[in-house]
Amino acid sequence: MDLGFRGDVVDFYHRFRRGYPPEVIDSLTDAFRLTTDDIVVDLGCGTGQLTLPIAQRVRSVVAIDTEPDMLVRARLAAREQEVTNVSWMLGADTDMPTLGAVIGHRNLSAVTIGQALHWMNPEKLFRAMVPFFRSGGGVSVVTNGTPLWLQDTAWSQALRGYLERWLGSELTRTCGTDDPSQLPYRDGLTTAGYDVAATTVDYTDELSAEQIVGGVYSALPVDRLPTPEQRQHFADRLRDVLQPHRPFTEEVRVRILVGRVR
Ligand SMILES: C[S@@+](CC[C@H](N)C(=O)[O-])C[C@H]1O[C@@H](n2cnc3c(N)ncnc32)[C@H](O)[C@@H]1O
Repeated sequence: MDLGFRGDVVDFYHRFRRGYPPEVIDSLTDAFRLTTDDIVVDLGCGTGQLTLPIAQRVRSVVAIDTEPDMLVRARLAAREQEVTNVSWMLGADTDMPTLGAVIGHRNLSAVTIGQALHWMNPEKLFRAMVPFFRSGGGVSVVTNGTPLWLQDTAWSQALRGYLERWLGSELTRTCGTDDPSQLPYRDGLTTAGYDVAATTVDYTDELSAEQIVGGVYSALPVDRLPTPEQRQHFADRLRDVLQPHRPFTEEVRVRILVGRVR
């Protein structure tokens, strides 16, 4: 499936998508008892939102994504942050069996999947990875808050109305962030033989109108992105729609689902 994380979307993604607070990285480090001896795979790495902070806790990270443009931006971000222990690879969840075999039986400490599992085949992936994890290692599914236009606030509802009119379609996909989506992830891990635990990191933030516009652009496939000529008009109209609902407060819930092997 073409998800359109290409072209201008990549830079919007990198500038405006939330990273993960240190508590999330601490939680993953604790869950898998990660040390500087460990190898981690970050699947669906985007521009490195989970990859880069995790790389600072472990020996090395293999970061995988299906979109070359995302990998190019991620590699640049690593250079900017002087992170040198990441290997950036073009690939998909379906490459995990091969990659696991290369890394070696029970040599892998963790696979992190940040805001990307909803495009993969969870059951197949979870099962395929079991033999590669060392004892106490495993997989973590991390989601990074409800989409901006599906939140329970007046500004979010105004945003949703505006976007649905612009795009001419309803926006309902939660991208794995809600309870009904999490349930099959949990069940898939349990069925594949992992011990499962779940935790959340909750915080409140206030967004600017510019951050909301950038966040929207970061989530659109490149072929639905307003053209450079349309963007000023799109942003001005959206600001007008949002303005009565200031401040743009967001309650962010990061969900961390962990499956460990014995
Ligand atoms: C929403 S971004 C998440 C990026 C980052 N992990 C984060 O937490 O912000 C999802 C990423 O997953 C990638 N992706 C989608 N399907 C994939 C698949 N089957 N295998 C690997 N990566 C995939 C997309 O190209 C995109 O870069």
